[in-house]
Amino acid sequence: MGARLLCLCLLAALLGYYIYSPLPEDLAQPWTVMLASAALRALGHLSEAADMLGLMHYMEVLRLFTAVELVAPTSDENVTVTATEFNSVPVRLYLPRRAPGGLRRAMVYFHGGGWCLGDAGMHGYDHMARRISNELNAVVVSVNYRLAPPHHFPVQFEDVYSVTKFFLQSEVLSQHGVDPARVCVAGDSAGGNLAAAVAQQLLEDPEVKTKLKAQVLIYPALQALDLNLPSYQDNAHKPILPRSLMVRFWSEYFSSDPALREAMASNSHVPPEAGQLWHFVNWSLWLPEDMRKDHRPGGPGLGGAELARRYPGLLDPRASPLLASEARLRRLPPALVLTCEHDVLRDDGAMYAARLRAAGVPVTHHHAKDAFHGAVTFLAGPLELALGHRLLRTCLDWLQENL
Ligand SMILES: *[C@@H]1O[C@H](CO)[C@@H](O)[C@H](O)[C@H]1NC(C)=O
Ligand SMILES: *[C@@H]1O[C@H](CO)[C@@H](O)[C@H](O)[C@H]1NC(C)=O
Repeated sequence: MGARLLCLCLLAALLGYYIYSPLPEDLAQPWTVMLASAALRALGHLSEAADMLGLMHYMEVLRLFTAVELVAPTSDENVTVTATEFNSVPVRLYLPRRAPGGLRRAMVYFHGGGWCLGDAGMHGYDHMARRISNELNAVVVSVNYRLAPPHHFPVQFEDVYSVTKFFLQSEVLSQHGVDPARVCVAGDSAGGNLAAAVAQQLLEDPEVKTKLKAQVLIYPALQALDLNLPSYQDNAHKPILPRSLMVRFWSEYFSSDPALREAMASNSHVPPEAGQLWHFVNWSLWLPEDMRKDHRPGGPGLGGAELARRYPGLLDPRASPLLASEARLRRLPPALVLTCEHDVLRDDGAMYAARLRAAGVPVTHHHAKDAFHGAVTFLAGPLELALGHRLLRTCLDWLQENL
């Protein structure tokens, strides 16, 4: 009897530990957020154990979360959905069913998941792509780029770039009934990183004649130089994306080397030669007053000379679009940058918006004060939030005007 009671108490305590996470006070529907956050944390601990025991890589276990969320590519009354390939990269293609009435808009979309997780076929992403396709009468190409591990930078970037370049060919656009003057790239989180990087790279590519009309960056990750920005400090333990997981994602993007992860965790991975790049991620310069709060400017945590030689991607603007010079930013298409208050990546987006604006690029920076990282994908099933629908509406309204 005593043993059973003890077991019961332990179980209750364990459950309580997982379910309970301190949530920001202004979150609506806190139970949904808490459950999703608890499930992710539990899976995170399981991943850590499996990884330590040498059974599976950490990210392979986390990918189970992706697997349970997958839905088949089925057409509905408004949108024809097919799984196909562009330039040998798998994509999910959404074509509006309604009579075109002229050429259509188009969006190339990159899902989030820290370059390690996620899939265009996850319920939230599939729902989002259908809505965009139907409401904007747009062709949506949602890309299933290769993930880490086993694939590291620049594979993810190269996959999404080759899909975008393939799609932007005039014969491919016309085959899909797309107006070449109304194509955008978009993505959330790591996908926002890829979208920003693709938009930059297209400007340097003499083979691409079509210019993007717009870019939509939803809580994007944009730099790996300073992982102690005020938002990283303020939101280190907020739901869905704690700092420790973001550090894992960044380090895994470049390598599975634990030395890199440890250096990034202590923010001492930046080589001395990064000197002049520091200006681009200096939050004392680029962050709006109300996001700086009472944080004190800290210098770069230098020490990663050897790491940077091994992983040159650390200083590559294709991995960290915020490291691009102003000359490179100047020719970029108009941007919607969406950031969330309770998010380690808040400052990445806010600083990019400020830098784009300084470079003369038209920018709409929508900062959601009551939102957390990942909110836009909470659109369907048990993980449905009014907040997700509201933020998607913000994106749709902006695209209605700007695409
Ligand atoms: C199809 O589009 C109409 C009008 O936008 C909408 O009311 C309806 O819910 C859509 N159907 C599906 C299955 O999404
Ligand atoms: C960042 O900018 C501030 C304000 O201009 C400056 O005082 C500081 O030295 C800069 N920090 C670094 C590391 O460059």
